[in-house]
Amino acid sequence: MPTQTQSEPADAPSAGTDPAASPQHAPGWHPGSWAERSVGQQPEWPDPAALSVSLSELGCRPPLVFAGEARRLTELLGRVCAGEAFVLQAGDCAESFELSTADQIRDRLKVILQMAVVLQYSAGLPIVKVGRIAGQFAKPRSQPTETRDGMTLPIFRGHIVNDIAFEPAARTPDPSRLLQAYNTSAATLNLLRAFTRGGYADLRQVHNWNQEFVASSPAGQRYETLANGIDSALRFMNACGLDTDDSAMRQVELYTSHEALLLGYEEALTRTDSITGDWYDCSAHMLWVGERTRELDGAHVEFLRGVHNPIGAKLGPTATPDEALALCETLNPNRIPGRLTLISRMGAGNIREAFGPILRAVTDAGHSVVWQCDPMHGNTYSTDKGVKTRHFDAILAEIRQYFAEHAEAGTWPGGIHLEITGDAVTECVGGGDELAQHQLGDRYETMCDPRLNGRQSLDLAFLAAELLAAAK
Ligand code: PEP
Ligand code: CO
Repeated sequence: MPTQTQSEPADAPSAGTDPAASPQHAPGWHPGSWAERSVGQQPEWPDPAALSVSLSELGCRPPLVFAGEARRLTELLGRVCAGEAFVLQAGDCAESFELSTADQIRDRLKVILQMAVVLQYSAGLPIVKVGRIAGQFAKPRSQPTETRDGMTLPIFRGHIVNDIAFEPAARTPDPSRLLQAYNTSAATLNLLRAFTRGGYADLRQVHNWNQEFVASSPAGQRYETLANGIDSALRFMNACGLDTDDSAMRQVELYTSHEALLLGYEEALTRTDSITGDWYDCSAHMLWVGERTRELDGAHVEFLRGVHNPIGAKLGPTATPDEALALCETLNPNRIPGRLTLISRMGAGNIREAFGPILRAVTDAGHSVVWQCDPMHGNTYSTDKGVKTRHFDAILAEIRQYFAEHAEAGTWPGGIHLEITGDAVTECVGGGDELAQHQLGDRYETMCDPRLNGRQSLDLAFLAAELLAAAK
């Protein structure tokens, strides 16, 4: 987790506030102004009184992250805008309450650290690490209900709303889950902070991030070679009398992020920073608006417009250059580098036609954004048996096309946004192991979209690292 905290918790008493710092409030915005807009993708809570109780309770809870940490992330993302760093945003599609165990959290962290070190070592660039973790509990859905064998129930919207079991009680939206989401996020974040500061993320532990089932794969062995290279570099630096016991070696900055979907939850955790007087959504360092909720006059864009965290917006294949420009104007009118990440999720084959014009329009208009490629969400398909999957080759193809488009436009392909897990799941096909369609049933565990397993994630990191090294 971030090692530098430049401010107190955002809800700390305002004593000691720098009088010179004047808050920057977006015109007409307040934490609840989203409710005056049309708001999609919210559950139908059967008991509004219970919802109010949960939201008031959340409003009294301490912030999960500090404003100073969010500002630090904006600054790091600003370096990505300048082409001086690359961002790896990765983690679950939908986190699970039950699977937020110590081992699970550690393994998810391991794979992120492993991928980041591969990118950093191969490309020689700082990697900004942002997890889809410690709060990624809410999912947008294409249908409000699901019907099986003649029974229709509310759709599963993520553990912050209901449970995945196809039973009436499990599927009924339950506001006590908002508090459970907060508690699970807090516990996850606490462990991540301990791991990333307490020696686990020490560069001298680089071999320990290679889980057994990953280490035995060709990518895992390639990783061991790379880790040996890091060991010798550290030994060499020591021999030269350089201090390798520095905090930069011993600690890692890992930031948290999730889709800002359930706006009542996000509003309840939105607080003013005691140092600047600015509003921050203290549920995560970075928040993004999804492809289904990014309408300019909708509630989600309205909410994100006023919080000072770094924010993102997904752009699918139907997004137009005008829409992207309008999002830039609304979400980052002051053109602060690092404030806004545009996350394209076009699908392999759509980059040139769908993304190219957006890239050029935004660049020509002089907006400073972090460009990020989500090669997952435009490449999802269902097998004949109705299993949702993605092919490793399509994921890689989209990243390749994305880098090529940036090379042609002379812009910086700032980062990648992936759905991964440290586990040996079988959800995406292809990769070094050539996972076949008939193997999908072996260990298919995702509650929403198919994720790359630990081996596939490392395979992808090596391939993306080659592209990054060439783009530098
Ligand atoms: C997601 O990131 O899990 C997601 C739902 O993405 P999108 O909004 O791009 O479909
Ligand atoms: Co997803």
